[in-house]
Amino acid sequence: MCSKYSHSKRIWNISELVAPCSDNGNPLRGDRQNELLRIPHAYIAIQDGNILDFGPMSACPSEYESFPIFDVHNSLVMPGFVDPHTHLVFEGERAKEYVARLQGEDYLSILSAGGGILETVRAVRKASLEDLTRNTENRMRECLQYGTTAFEIKSGYGLTLQDEVKMLQAATVASHNIGVCISRTLLAAHAVPPEFEGNTDGYIRYMNQSIVPYVGEKKLAENIDVFCEEGVFSAVQAEEILKRGIQFGLRPKLHIDEFKSIGGLSLAAQVKAISADHMMVSNPLEFPAFCDAGGVAVVLPGTCFGLSHGRKDYNYAKRLIHANIPVAIGTDLNPGTCMCGSMQMMIEIAILQMGLTLSEAINAATVNASFASGLEFKTGAIEKGKRADLQVLSIQSLEEFPYRFGLNKVTRVLLKGIDFA
Ligand code: NIG
Ligand code: FE
Repeated sequence: MCSKYSHSKRIWNISELVAPCSDNGNPLRGDRQNELLRIPHAYIAIQDGNILDFGPMSACPSEYESFPIFDVHNSLVMPGFVDPHTHLVFEGERAKEYVARLQGEDYLSILSAGGGILETVRAVRKASLEDLTRNTENRMRECLQYGTTAFEIKSGYGLTLQDEVKMLQAATVASHNIGVCISRTLLAAHAVPPEFEGNTDGYIRYMNQSIVPYVGEKKLAENIDVFCEEGVFSAVQAEEILKRGIQFGLRPKLHIDEFKSIGGLSLAAQVKAISADHMMVSNPLEFPAFCDAGGVAVVLPGTCFGLSHGRKDYNYAKRLIHANIPVAIGTDLNPGTCMCGSMQMMIEIAILQMGLTLSEAINAATVNASFASGLEFKTGAIEKGKRADLQVLSIQSLEEFPYRFGLNKVTRVLLKGIDFA
């Protein structure tokens, strides 16, 4: 789902071109996750919105001399971030709940008492498509200012056919208006809505008979996801929902092991999920099967940072890399656990707290994130033919990225080669 632009230019005077690229069409894993091409004094040639060529300025072919110059005056350039896990479409906020959790209240108990996700469900059901679209677009614009040029976006605060469709439409229209690449995920299995309280199987029947076929047939989403967690959806229930989605052409993804490990990772391996997300408390015994299945682990540093009060284990991302599983980084942007849409912040937590190297983190937020979103053929890498979705930063070398933590280092963003204002 990408809108069209057409343009040619030559990005010039790049102090350092940070150029993540895939491993021959595969996500980066193990030692490879730490391999990152960095070209000093570089250029990028763009044609029709895509990367035509790149390399050192001293080796720029004369055929690009006629391309208008876009001078970045000795700044670092890298691909825009791909945020592979967002709940970008929502209404309202839950600041009081967030602070209560910091004081020790429990996320899943709040949800079973009808709060948390269900509070946002009430707000989204009341909202018009126009309001949702406008708010989504504003949120996307804000993320763009921080360097994100592509998003995976989930539904999951509607929990009826009509409201889930409304959320997916808001995502579609907002992305179209801005021109960003998105990948849409049906997350009707985010919580059991009040009308089905105590009747999870009834809700699953409704979802599988009504929501999943409609969304699949009308091509309103590309992926399907389930919040597989104790007290929400079990691994057996998640399997039924994902398999129904697969029948309708949706690619499986999973929210797993955020609080408790209940077999979600083995399920992710079994259904060949394109991503398994959170994985804070995953059981290493389940790693090999997931590793062989080829999916990407999406770690969400912002959620870990704010949610897991008293039980932070930041080493989990490193364990995944050591297990040869490709790791991506996302924000999880949502009103409950992470109101921050800055991928820069997530990368900084990953580097400063989780022990990822600079190269591992940048690959995680770009090329691996594109695989986790199913956008790997379009964006997220410096490769010929990819969309020229780029960011210019107010630093000269990548080492300055974690060094200048907490600051917005992005000065310009290009979408398909066009300067986004
Ligand atoms: O990924 N855990 C489930 N879903 C979101 C939170 C959504 C919410 O609290 O509104 C997550 O953290
Ligand atoms: Fe999430």
